[in-house]
Amino acid sequence: MKKSFILILLLLPLLFFSFVLPKQTKWSYRTRSNYDTSFNLLTAYGKYIYQQENCNKCHTCTPLLDSNKISLENIAGKYPDSWHYNHLYDPRMMSPGSNMPRYYGLMKAPLSYKVILQLLSEEYTTVTEADSLDIRQTLEMQANAVLQVLKRDNITPSSPVYNEAIALIAWLQYRPDTPERRHKDSLQKENSRRSEEQMMASLESDLSNPESQIMKLANSKDPAILKKGKNYFSISCAVCHRENANGSIGPNLTDDYWLHDNSIKALFLTIFNGVPDHAMPAWKHSIDKERIATIIAFIRSLKGSNPPNPKEPQGEKRSD
Ligand code: HEC
Ligand code: HEC
Repeated sequence: MKKSFILILLLLPLLFFSFVLPKQTKWSYRTRSNYDTSFNLLTAYGKYIYQQENCNKCHTCTPLLDSNKISLENIAGKYPDSWHYNHLYDPRMMSPGSNMPRYYGLMKAPLSYKVILQLLSEEYTTVTEADSLDIRQTLEMQANAVLQVLKRDNITPSSPVYNEAIALIAWLQYRPDTPERRHKDSLQKENSRRSEEQMMASLESDLSNPESQIMKLANSKDPAILKKGKNYFSISCAVCHRENANGSIGPNLTDDYWLHDNSIKALFLTIFNGVPDHAMPAWKHSIDKERIATIIAFIRSLKGSNPPNPKEPQGEKRSD
């Protein structure tokens, strides 16, 4: 009696491992840290969307033929994920004058489990019950990796968080991991680090020279410049700060209260670098500094404009 009891006790963990835990699946995947190297559910999903949406009408992914189409052959890694997110939301945001259609519908479409099962059944023969839990979790894990990258650029998709745009971006950024690729990547990284340094150094020198074009623009009271600034503000900033800058998601920019400093330099740096984790995007890669200076002239012209229904004051009172 005692012996068989001990035997059962010994067998229990075995039973647990064979039935309760999901079975190991046939494919291997990794979190999409930089660029994934193995079969990835999310990129497969993204490729499917690319086909579904007929992106091929205007694009080609192969070097051959079709010189009329815009090649996406080397698109992987060319831009950050956030560039693609904004570009899909509205191509004009990233490429002024673009005639590519908007694909914001993808941001409203949740990732469908059915689609992924269909894609898997083309790739592999059977998907068992135990696999399916694993698939769901893996898909979400891979989507989450993209979300974290987007979040660093202050993009936080609302509902559905796991949407089809995420999958499409994963696919656009996908590329095989070869030694040549890694070499090219490290060169590219070094180049972009250098050009970022140069950009900041040239901005610093502009901002410390009152005679620079940037400072003259930012200080301008010329109605033609202010009108331009208002227009740029309306395109990029009004969604969060409102047309008259009285504030909604972002603070009221017309009152005397500031979360950050309100000197021209401080305004420049806030707009340039954004405020990570506080929904204020970084604009240094999408708006050139002349435009930002023009927007700053407009913001400064609003001081004391007392727009109706202002957002409550945020930060400290500053006199500048
Ligand atoms: C009606 C034509 C058209 C369709 C359809 C279209 N695009 Fe585009 N796409 C363009 C044009 C024009 C450009 C160049 C201007 C720009 O960057 O927006 C472009 C640029 C791009 C770029 C940037 C290329 C680069 O190297 O800078 C990406 C990425 C892209 N498209 C992805 C897509 C995806 C994904 C789809 C499908 C969901 C799609 N496009 C559908 C016309 C189109
Ligand atoms: C997606 C929403 C969003 C967009 C778009 C946006 N902002 Fe902001 N902005 C914010 C939020 C949120 C804050 C507050 C950040 C914080 O809590 O520190 C902010 C803060 C600021 C501040 C600092 C205000 C202070 O009190 O110190 C400035 C200046 C500013 N934004 C300018 C701009 C300009 C110029 C643009 C367009 C080029 C822009 N913002 C676009 C959300 C946005």
